[in-house]
Amino acid sequence: MSSVLHRNLNLNLPMAVRGEGVYLYDAAGKEYLDASGGAAVSCLGHGHPDMVDALCDQIRSLEFAHTSYFTSRPAEDLAEKLISLAPEGFGRGKAAFVGSGSEANEVAMKLARQYHVERNDHKRHRFMARRMSYHGNSIGALGAGGHTQRRAIYEPMLIDNLLISSCYYYREGRPGESEQDYCTRLLDEFVQTIEAAGPETIAALMVEPISGATLGSLAAVPGYFKGIRAICDQYGILLIADEVMCGMGRCGDYFVSAQEGITPDIITIAKGLGAGYQPIGAAMASEKVISALYDGSGMLSNGHTYMGHSVACAAAKSVLDIMERNDLLGNVRRLGAELEAKLRTAFGDHPHVGDIRGRGLFWTLELVENRETKQPFPVEKNIAGRIKHVAQQNGLICYPSQGCINGEAGDHVLVAPPFISTSDHLTELVDKLQTSMDGVLSSFAAAA
Ligand SMILES: Cc1ncc(COP(=O)(O)O)c(C=O)c1O
Repeated sequence: MSSVLHRNLNLNLPMAVRGEGVYLYDAAGKEYLDASGGAAVSCLGHGHPDMVDALCDQIRSLEFAHTSYFTSRPAEDLAEKLISLAPEGFGRGKAAFVGSGSEANEVAMKLARQYHVERNDHKRHRFMARRMSYHGNSIGALGAGGHTQRRAIYEPMLIDNLLISSCYYYREGRPGESEQDYCTRLLDEFVQTIEAAGPETIAALMVEPISGATLGSLAAVPGYFKGIRAICDQYGILLIADEVMCGMGRCGDYFVSAQEGITPDIITIAKGLGAGYQPIGAAMASEKVISALYDGSGMLSNGHTYMGHSVACAAAKSVLDIMERNDLLGNVRRLGAELEAKLRTAFGDHPHVGDIRGRGLFWTLELVENRETKQPFPVEKNIAGRIKHVAQQNGLICYPSQGCINGEAGDHVLVAPPFISTSDHLTELVDKLQTSMDGVLSSFAAAA
């Protein structure tokens, strides 16, 4: 019996022992196509030799030096590189490195609060986010977000956040409502929520520029984020873009905020930043936020032992170097278009695929019982969970989830293959996904 406190105490998980390229292998020698990098992490695939070299070199020279005594070359180089890639407004910005996406969002929330305090705006302490958003599992980040399932038992411990609608036109656009009218309705709701709560109490709005795990690679309608940015500015509310899942090349650019034409005040990244070779997340503060710190205390009012960890920073810098050397952003764009075409060919007419959505190498099939009415499958059928299980049996790692509609109902399957994939890998992905989905859905139909 395992002494590891696993996520599910009753599951017997296979033991992963090796990874090579887009494949993972378990102790029995079974091969799995890693088509989701777990949760959009392994963008370079597994066992990348340049990553192994970079990590070994760094450990040999310096594994750790505490950030209250020293800076380190990897942290400096990584910060400089990220700032050079960031959207306009980050030119004299700075990045803080921590161990995960949740921690990055904790840093972002504290930075937002600190920004207002430094400017003698002490009342601003509340955080806004969107329903069904996910910003991490630490108490602060969980409290900011709107992931009902993950929040449920912790509700009494969570901060007093304010939620607005997610931008989910497929489900929440009204009959006959144009995308533009839907956008206007959501922006009006944002303003009304701010006014009702008291704008002077709100520190920041946290958003995923492309919603990740909860809603399944869901982009906003055109104009939405520019509208959100303008309203934040109007009310002195900071905008935090959580690009933990969608950023770092996953959608074809390093930053989705840039694709949406906005400059957030703070951007958080993780997952693809370390590509699974090291746990690392970053909170990037724009020039506006950093200036407030310079004009105020001159301090970052936050600290963690493993901040700016040399090996983690060296790994992330090496990921960016490999991306550049091999034009992996170009790969994401080319392969992304191919993946979209393959998914539309395989599932475009599928009676139980209601929506196919995504960007770059970040794609989702939303599953429905009835395409016409968009009626979801009954929650208790656990379609997403069953597809995950059958796909893994079929040698495919993908990322199905349940709850996209209201935290309970609504199944979707997300894929996020490595940037080093080939066309053949994408064909294998779609074939295995089709077999797995058909296996589950036909058994369900037979049982109904
Ligand atoms: C958008 C987003 N933010 C934050 C997080 C939390 O990141 P981590 O699990 O590394 O703490 C996640 C993880 O799935 C995420 O998708």
